[in-house]
Amino acid sequence: MSKINISDAVRYIGCDDHDIDLFESQYHVPNGVSYNSYLIVDEKIAIMDTVDARATEGWFANMEQELAGRKPDYLVVSHLEPDHASNIQKVCEKYPDLQVVGNAKTFGMLPQFFTLDFSGRKMEVKEGDTLELGSHSLTFYMAPMVHWPEVMVAYENQEKILFSADGFGKFGTLDTQEDWDDEARRYFINIVGKYGMPVQTLLKKAAALDMQTICPLHGPVLKENLAYYLEKYQVWSSYRPEEEGVVIVYASIHGNTAAAAGKLAALLEEKGQKVSVFDLARDDMAKAVADAFRYDRLVLAAATYDGGLFPCMEDFLYHLKMKNYQKRTIGIMENGSWAPMAAKLMKEYAESFKDCVLAEPVVTIRSTLNAASQAQLEQLAEALETQ
Ligand code: FEO
Repeated sequence: MSKINISDAVRYIGCDDHDIDLFESQYHVPNGVSYNSYLIVDEKIAIMDTVDARATEGWFANMEQELAGRKPDYLVVSHLEPDHASNIQKVCEKYPDLQVVGNAKTFGMLPQFFTLDFSGRKMEVKEGDTLELGSHSLTFYMAPMVHWPEVMVAYENQEKILFSADGFGKFGTLDTQEDWDDEARRYFINIVGKYGMPVQTLLKKAAALDMQTICPLHGPVLKENLAYYLEKYQVWSSYRPEEEGVVIVYASIHGNTAAAAGKLAALLEEKGQKVSVFDLARDDMAKAVADAFRYDRLVLAAATYDGGLFPCMEDFLYHLKMKNYQKRTIGIMENGSWAPMAAKLMKEYAESFKDCVLAEPVVTIRSTLNAASQAQLEQLAEALETQ
């Protein structure tokens, strides 16, 4: 275990997972992921969530080391998703007196995952309830749909720590040295992004708390400059662009649409615009989606295929739709050798996104760029520059 120092009483007992191929069976995590879990050691001892089944052995070892022969009194379950909850039954079987702390929704869903009879060991809490541990105490706040309906967060009153469940999480193991923003954004937009309103509600509750530390269920413990992370969450959860820039995503079969996308990128860069380009057939879809939310302008460039959209563009637009993409300017470039259809289909998506504006003109390429489509491309670059 990489030793994470929180305080004398609050100990990190989570695990890094360097070997997972796809988080949630869909997200590439080149630097792995951490399943965070904590122990609060006072007169009573509380375990703050368990970990994924992939990390069971390491988690129990970490916990036993920090328990130093004592027995835990409470298991706080802030989220039932299996990356955190997989070991609930195992730890309850190991410690027969362990009380499970959750809310009504937690206990409603618990039997769906486990066969153990939890009656007699349930401690049901609701908004504002406090659990006394000694000099430490936990106050619970419900956070439904940040990311599942049963999610709750806990505020430790003495050390002013927010145990924030999936909130403020990040991909990447704790021993990875990398910028927080990129992997926290990719994590937030793709995993929690659909639930902007519930996140806003949680942020309002958090604003009333004097927080010195945030302990999320993934990624680093945050101890300094918390306002920075809170502001990022304000921006992401309200679907506002984080910065000015143009994301160009292309779905190209033989390279001609890719070449046109490259041309547009060069034109925009010549105009001093920040540009981020993705090959949707090959680049990380989750990063492309995250960057679409990061910047204020987006260009969709796709070939027509079987009378529809080349599939990776359809997939990308489906993701944007599911994540409530909105409040952006969108440009469209299509390619079709005999019956171009891509622009019509991409436009339908764009028009279904809330508060999005279409940059004109739509560029139509017939197989390869020619003088006419090159002129449209230049006009689109100008329109995007002035948006
Ligand atoms: Fe990290 Fe929604 O679980």
